[in-house]
Amino acid sequence: MDFAEAQGAILSLLGQVSSDALPKVIHWMKTSTALSLLAFMKLLFLYWYLLVLFDAKEHCRHLSKRGIRYPFNFTGCECPRGDTWKCELEDLTTSNNDIILKSISEDLRSCLPVEAMVGTESRTMQVIRNLKTPTVHVDAFLYDEEAVDSLCAEGKMSRNYCLSCGSKNTAPLDFLSHSFSLPELRFLFQNALPDLAGKTLLDVGSRLGAVLYVGYVYSSASHLYGVEMNAEFCNLQEKIIQKYQFEDRIKVYQADICNQKALLQEADVVVLNNVFEYFLEKEEQAKAWTFLNENLRKKGSLLITVPTLKESLGKLQLNINVDHWVEEVDLDLDHVYLREEVDEQAHSDIHLYCVR
Ligand SMILES: C[S@@+](CC[C@H](N)C(=O)[O-])C[C@H]1O[C@@H](n2cnc3c(N)ncnc32)[C@H](O)[C@@H]1O
Repeated sequence: MDFAEAQGAILSLLGQVSSDALPKVIHWMKTSTALSLLAFMKLLFLYWYLLVLFDAKEHCRHLSKRGIRYPFNFTGCECPRGDTWKCELEDLTTSNNDIILKSISEDLRSCLPVEAMVGTESRTMQVIRNLKTPTVHVDAFLYDEEAVDSLCAEGKMSRNYCLSCGSKNTAPLDFLSHSFSLPELRFLFQNALPDLAGKTLLDVGSRLGAVLYVGYVYSSASHLYGVEMNAEFCNLQEKIIQKYQFEDRIKVYQADICNQKALLQEADVVVLNNVFEYFLEKEEQAKAWTFLNENLRKKGSLLITVPTLKESLGKLQLNINVDHWVEEVDLDLDHVYLREEVDEQAHSDIHLYCVR
């Protein structure tokens, strides 16, 4: 078995582990002294060999039914596109990390209604209802385009609304997400941010914890802190952190960010994704931005924002000089390596600033 085959076999094996057992298996692989690398490779080879000998064809079908394509070309394997090399390549680029993150996303979906909002967010729901264009909330970390299509096919969601009730005269609904999507977060940690070894990241309004989990698996940040004022979302994040054993680097605080001066002052990277607009009254938004402006002063620290700082502050007519506070870093999308499925339009909303 060469390196690529070994990598494929490991990913395929992990793809079959139930979501309950996956964190334990990963932890065991990371820490077990009984499992030297050589022994582990032999085990995997044995596993792969047994598969080939016994029920490879059946197994291949079973995996492809679960959306996992087996990376080898068994005789009789029904590769969906009849092009096994493409399947192999695709499988090899799906890393362990993505398997863990997909499993987290499934866990979160099972705990939340389709719109991924909780009862205590009645004000936010009202704000969304009052937007000019009819808008639905679809959490991009939980539902990618394919998942939204499935929901639409099942009649649980619609991409359009009716202009004159009962007719075919429809218009597209606006979609709003309260979380970054996985491709956006991979872009942030793999392409936009520098090496975070020894650094501290703070997600202001961490909600489901998407930024923190992706930061855990795709960066070397020493500390990933989330501050979230909503208790229900904090409990949900705690469950995930415990289940996947992320406690060594992730910590979530249930608090108003305006009471977390020290976290703001110490952070090296601060994420502010549509943080206040849908959740706070204008006066509270103004107070929160003023507090951030006063406390995010560590020279060279980075701010990730959606939308731009000027747009968020402009709506509140605050007396904050953005150009004196930070310098925008050009993400220069033409020069970063983008995976096939990346939505370039979505990235154009993400802004990176360096504190002066
Ligand atoms: C749009 S979500 C951001 C989700 C997450 N950061 C991400 O990018 O995936 C904004 C979150 O900020 C929280 N929030 C709003 N104002 C806050 C405040 N003053 N302190 C702490 N959390 C706040 C809201 O409850 C909401 O869950």
